[in-house]
Amino acid sequence: MLTIGLTGGIGCGKTTVSQLFKEKNVPVVDADEISHAIVQTGQPALTELENAFGQQVLLSNGSLNRKYLRELVFAKPNKKALLESILHPIIYRTMDQQLNEFDSPYGMLSIPLLFETKHQENIDRVLVIDCSEEAQKLRVKARDQLSDSMIGSIMDSQCSREFRLSHADDILNNDGTLEKLKSDIDKLHSLYLKMSTGKNHTYPAK
Ligand SMILES: Nc1ncnc2c1ncn2[C@@H]1O[C@H](COP(=O)(O)OP(=O)(O)OP(=O)(O)O)[C@@H](O)[C@H]1O
Ligand SMILES: [Mg+2]
Repeated sequence: MLTIGLTGGIGCGKTTVSQLFKEKNVPVVDADEISHAIVQTGQPALTELENAFGQQVLLSNGSLNRKYLRELVFAKPNKKALLESILHPIIYRTMDQQLNEFDSPYGMLSIPLLFETKHQENIDRVLVIDCSEEAQKLRVKARDQLSDSMIGSIMDSQCSREFRLSHADDILNNDGTLEKLKSDIDKLHSLYLKMSTGKNHTYPAK
């Protein structure tokens, strides 16, 4: 299966684009969803976190104390590295397993921090969803009611727009209307189907 890594800065439109590909029966596996699922109560990753960070990482009901963990890794870079060394391999293994359950010519891994986690080596192509920083800020503000300074600091913590664009194999510009986005996705879908031919998969038409 041809694997496409979908990425982009906060609010650029990754979830919107994922949904549009899913509507075309393209399997999309989401790193954010998996990173939440693997730390639910009873999951082995949660036990690994408890072993690494101590009991404070759990609330009294046994679920993950996200606030504690967030503040800890924000304050201490070595704890952030420890957390990532535990979770990232599990996240990526789970993503690959889920994607391989589909019989499709191509599939997508939606990874917001694809470049930051250096996962581009394990995928065939990188698709960057891009829009202007102004559009990004306006859309995030409308969606999440975050302050300008909070949005700014999240954007600063991610790699730059220039870096993303210069490391992309394909770019979907999302500054325009949803109609424009849909028609660009149609073109990209045809391209990916062409690229994946010869891999002995039949594609469920929609
Ligand atoms: N072309 C567009 N025109 C208008 N609004 C849009 C467009 N694309 C996306 N949006 C809106 O912008 C917001 C951000 O889009 P979306 O949630 O898809 O981004 P994201 O990259 O998944 O964000 P995050 O990084 O926070 O997960 C959403 O409210 C979405 O509905
Ligand atoms: Mg999203």
